[in-house]
Parts: sequence; C-alpha cells; structure tokens
Amino acid sequence: MSKRKIGILTGGGDVPPLNAVIASARKASLKNGTELIGFLHGWSGLIEGRYVELSKINIDPLIGGTILKSSRVSLEKVPDGVKKAKENFKKLDLDGLIVIGGEDTLSNSFNFSDIPQVLISKTIDNDVGMIRFDRNDSFEIVNYFTLGFPTAARKISSFVSLKEGLRTTAYSHERIIVVESMGMHAGWLALSSSLGHPDYIVIPEFPLEYNRFLEMVLRRYREKKNLIVVVAEGAKFGDGSHMSADENEKDDFGHPRFKGSADTLAKKLKEDLKKYFDTRNVNAVNPSYLYRSGAPCDLDMQWGDKLGKEAIRLNSEGLGGTVVLTIQKGERGFSMAPYSISKLNGIKDFHRFVDRRFYDPDGYSVTEEGRRYLVEIAPEIPEQDYGLM
Ligand code: F6P
Repeated sequence: MSKRKIGILTGGGDVPPLNAVIASARKASLKNGTELIGFLHGWSGLIEGRYVELSKINIDPLIGGTILKSSRVSLEKVPDGVKKAKENFKKLDLDGLIVIGGEDTLSNSFNFSDIPQVLISKTIDNDVGMIRFDRNDSFEIVNYFTLGFPTAARKISSFVSLKEGLRTTAYSHERIIVVESMGMHAGWLALSSSLGHPDYIVIPEFPLEYNRFLEMVLRRYREKKNLIVVVAEGAKFGDGSHMSADENEKDDFGHPRFKGSADTLAKKLKEDLKKYFDTRNVNAVNPSYLYRSGAPCDLDMQWGDKLGKEAIRLNSEGLGGTVVLTIQKGERGFSMAPYSISKLNGIKDFHRFVDRRFYDPDGYSVTEEGRRYLVEIAPEIPEQDYGLM
C-alpha cells in the first residue's frame, strides 16, 4: 500500500490549543508513516496550493494560536473556490483532510462529499454541537465543548471574580462595570462567566428588556454599591436590534463586525441612572482577543492532543466520508466519538445556542442546570465578599 497523505488546516478565530492538535497529529503521522502537510491560512492554502511539510517543522504545543495561520474564507465567495480546492486535493495526491475550525470554517467542508475529512471543532463561542432533547425532559449534549472554550471560560470567570478580577475594583470604587464577552450568536462564553459570579449576564439568544433590567440594576446597586454585568458582543435590545453591530463591515459569511456592546450598554446605563446617583463610575471593559490568546488550559491541552492523534488514526483507517470528531461526556468522563455529517443538512444543524435550561432570562443569570454543565469544563471560583457592604 502506498504511503497515505493527509492535509491539515486551521480556519477562523485562533484558540489556544490549535498547536496542540497540530503537534499531536504530526507526532501520530510520523509514527504511523502518514505524510502530513499543513495548509497555510486555512482554506486559502488549499485553494492556492500553499502548504508546509509538517515532518520538517517542530511545533510547541504549549504556544497558543496556530503555526499554520488562519483566515475566514467562504469557499463559495472565492471564484472557483470549490473547484480549485478539489483540484489541489487531487494534484497533491491527498487521501484526506483534517479541518480545524468553528461554524464558518467547518461549513466549507459540506462542499465536498467525495473528500474524506475529519472535522475538529474549535471556538471560544462553544456553539458547534447539538443539544438533543428527549421526551422525559432530559437531554444529551453532542460535542460537550469545543476546543478553546475551556480556556476562555476560565479567563472570563477569572476576569469578573473577586478573587482574581474586576470585582475588587468594582467594590473599592463602588463601580458598575459592564464586561463584554465574545459570542456573535451564542451566549456560552458570557454564560461561563457565571463561574466567577457577575451580577447579570446578557446573551444574544434573549433580547434585553431594558427598562426591567434598568430597575434590576438600580435595585441591586443600591443594595451592594457595586455591580458587574457581562454582555455578549452579539447581544440585542428588546426590539431585536444589535447593541453594537456595524452592518457596513461584514465578513465573508455575512456576519457584521461587532464594535462594543459593553460600551453601548454602559453609556446607556450611565445616562439613565444619572438621576439617582453619580454615574461617573459606570464603566465598560472589553477583554476582546485576550479571551482567545495565550496558552491552553490543561483540559484544552489534553483534548487538543487526543483529537489530533485520533484524527490521524481515523484518516489512516480510510474514512468513507466526513465526520466531526466530537467530545462526549459519559459516566466515566470525556471520550471521543466520530459523528457523520451525512446526517446533517448543513452546519446549521450542528450549531447550538443557549436555551432556558441553561439560562434564566428573568434573572439574567445561569440556571442550576447551566452551572452543572459548565463546572465540568471550568472550575467555579469560590464566591467571596469583603464582608462589608
Ligand atoms: O468566532 C469566534 C470569535 O471569537 C467570535 O466570538 C468573534 O465575534 C469573532 O471570533 C471575532 O474574530 P475576528 O475579529 O478575529 O474576526
């Protein structure tokens, strides 16, 4: 049998464990005699035939980002994109692909029914997967988390907490701090901040009933004299309008650029609370790319490593079609399971959102079920206070 040859690529926003996946796939390929090439700048590399031979490169799995670089390319928007990708796949004599990406990058994979692909989901948005409900009101989470989400969840909860983050300055200066989370459509990252105990969380799935919210903020601020609100970048007001979308600047997939929901909300609160107290201390903070940058946490590192290795194994076995290599949660912890995309009509069937089981829109807070889900992924930071009001 001739030596197998596989291509790997990373697309979309970078996350900390990408190099862990690539390094582990490289190691496994060297071990089983597979030739592994890495396309540069995501799908653009395949379309344009730009790649590196990974056997010749040393990769440090502990460094975040992606050694292969990234892009946000919709194959349908590139003239002859699908055709060129297929031609290069053939010309390079490839047997399969490993595609590491979020919803948009993985949507490109649906253009190739004839190319064997292992898809690995990565995004701090945690929105690639499914929640399958059954009749007894119980549910199963297909793809428990996406790579990068565990590290980002640890960061956002740390950023807002008293032990490690903004609560200390909120308390000391009697501030209202509105913290922005990434998440265009899905509020998983914002929700994970609950592990660091902010007061309220506003997510894109549930438009903000502003007047009611304003009253809640006023009441709680009067009680505690400090308050932290986490708002997702894709959050909407009650009329359905985005707090911060710039419709003039859209990416290849038609998503607007978000330019500061925390800023918008903080300004509005500042204005509307002015008649009750001095609102110079109502501030916005947007950690932005800090959620995605830097080194992976242990869970991300561990699963980046496992998924990379398994992707090579599956590809070497001669995959019939395309699978998403999902992370499943069972009684004995996490495990991997390939999920065939032939069952899906498109990536929209594998795009999950926060619902009422996980989030309480009346209290703008996490539910007990949501907390149970999140603590499997990131530790809850013990709630503390100064003991003084
Ligand atoms: O897709 C992941 C994500 O982190 C989104 O939450 C965010 O809107 C987007 O990337 C922004 O990324 P960039 O500015 O790199 O296009």
